[in-house]
Amino acid sequence: MDHYTVIGNPVKHSRSPAMHARFAELAGDNISYDRTLAPLDGFTDTMNRLAAEGYKGANVTVPFKEEAYRWASQLTARAKQAGAVNTLALQKDSSWLGDNTDGAGLVADLKRLGAALRGSNILVIGAGGATRGILGPLVEEAPASLVVANRTESKAEQLAALFNISAHSFADLAGQRFDIIINATAASLSDELPPVTSSIFDGASLAYDLVYKPAGTVFEQWAKAHGCHASSDGLGMLVAQGAESFSLWRQRQPNWQQVLNEMKEG
Ligand code: ATR
Repeated sequence: MDHYTVIGNPVKHSRSPAMHARFAELAGDNISYDRTLAPLDGFTDTMNRLAAEGYKGANVTVPFKEEAYRWASQLTARAKQAGAVNTLALQKDSSWLGDNTDGAGLVADLKRLGAALRGSNILVIGAGGATRGILGPLVEEAPASLVVANRTESKAEQLAALFNISAHSFADLAGQRFDIIINATAASLSDELPPVTSSIFDGASLAYDLVYKPAGTVFEQWAKAHGCHASSDGLGMLVAQGAESFSLWRQRQPNWQQVLNEMKEG
């Protein structure tokens, strides 16, 4: 049986083991998937140990995605763009491939929600690591415009230059209209709202929060109260990015929509 793990700090509450166990069960596949708590200064030692123990792959979570990028011996194009790795996969020649499935997971979930990305006007709020991970796959969907806005404007400008898109300050957003608005800030984790004008939601079709919370996020409620037609939290992105990792390791696509529905119910 092949062994996989999620490595992070903290990692106790990760939903990845249950999710991957269910992917494997539905695919008729037989794997083990556990959690690995690495010391904050011990990512490399821990990954070297897992490799020596014969693990075939790992998901990497906070705060090790940049270190995983440096640890991997090869990188996919989307990992290079993201500057971070959330999936490590042992290759036939014993090297380790680093991939980033976060952006593909977001795009898959937006499509599940019926969002028409091609030709749409998309706003991404926030300019941290989460934003960097999703911009490349969003650009590939050929939106009419993709704007990144951040509290610290210089960080939005840096990312916009990297991906050849537009950057705005929060103040610049007044009077602008978007179809899809993505909250990639950490604000919802502490039930805060990014200080952007609520007029951006007027007529928008979807507000998507990368954070997931069982009762929805404050950002979702706020968007709908100000004219946005639909909203979603980021649970679907979590499940879809996991499915992308699973298919990289196992060469088969799990039924992630079914697993998402089960996780919502349970
Ligand atoms: P992550 O990897 O989750 O993106 P990060 O790199 O620390 O984490 O970035 C956090 C992002 O959330 C940043 O864009 C941050 O804005 P600043 O660059 O101005 O710090 C944003 N953020 C966090 N809390 C916020 C809040 N209360 N309002 C608006 N933006 C917030």
